[in-house]
Amino acid sequence: MKDIKELQREIKELKNELSVTIVAHYYQKDEVFETADITGDSLQLAQKASQADSEYVLFCGVGFMGQSVKIISPEKRVVMPKIACCAMARMIDSEYFDQSVEYMVKKGIDKEDILPITYINSNAEVKAKVAQMGGMVCTSSNASKIIEKALSSGKKILFVPDKCLGQNIAIKMGVKSCVIGEGECDPKEADIICYNGFCSVHQLFEVEDVEFFRKKYPGIKIAVHPECKPEVCKLADFVGSTSQLLNYVRSLPEDQKVAVGTEYNFVHRLRSKNTYVLSSTKPECPTMNETTLQDVADVLYAIKKGDPINEIFVDEETRKWAKIALERMFEI
Ligand code: 13P
Ligand code: SF4
Repeated sequence: MKDIKELQREIKELKNELSVTIVAHYYQKDEVFETADITGDSLQLAQKASQADSEYVLFCGVGFMGQSVKIISPEKRVVMPKIACCAMARMIDSEYFDQSVEYMVKKGIDKEDILPITYINSNAEVKAKVAQMGGMVCTSSNASKIIEKALSSGKKILFVPDKCLGQNIAIKMGVKSCVIGEGECDPKEADIICYNGFCSVHQLFEVEDVEFFRKKYPGIKIAVHPECKPEVCKLADFVGSTSQLLNYVRSLPEDQKVAVGTEYNFVHRLRSKNTYVLSSTKPECPTMNETTLQDVADVLYAIKKGDPINEIFVDEETRKWAKIALERMFEI
């Protein structure tokens, strides 16, 4: 078996020879992350990867991220070392989306009065459905801005698929939310009606973890991703997307301790000292971690052979609508 350095060297040579841009999300394993030309969170990657000037984009992340590049730039050939599907994105498909709209209609809301917003962690079909109803995409970096704009339309917001992000934004903005399938969710009484999806990784962080770190290290800062539970976000000193967390932690004085509630690979390379993972378990995203260095090399060898593997395709009608949902976000 080849060692890490050997494989990284091989990947570097191949990507230069074949003119392939390697893109990696912050949650990727270190050795994969180190091979990337472009790194970032989901918003940064959707923007930067679509502007890459190579024919091929090799996307190390989860399925919806590679798909977003293909949606924005259909002329690019997007390949992935593993077509790993984000567990949260898998919780909603176009049928479940339709059922959520029907639920609101049954509860007395006119379809024309529903404005859907989908978190970028969803497939192209869901994004297309959202666009067809006048809605758009958001990421964790811009969710507040997008939802604020959406609320100004006076319509009811159907937020899919992450209930935690939807609820956290509602709390931040001082508006009412409910979750379909959780207790009495009356869309007439709420401004943001959330779908019942969640991230299994960010669900790991508990109020007890915050209490534990505050007791053990008085004065410690707690910083979490908005996919964490509302009760955890309420206690945190800072809530932000992956890149916002990076900026926050790196802006702290060196001796300021901080416990961070998000994916392990990202947290452990954030800062060399005084940085803790806000959990007693290792919060690794299983799908992000599916990608190995060998997979990256295999995809490059397949391109070299003229027979690319794991290429992303989106049917044209779906792509066209999904692109509208993404563009509406970029405009805001
Ligand atoms: P970011 O938008 O912060 O990159 O988050 C994506 C994600 O999947 C977090 O779990
Ligand atoms: Fe999806 Fe959660 Fe993994 Fe992010 S951390 S890619 S939301 S499963």
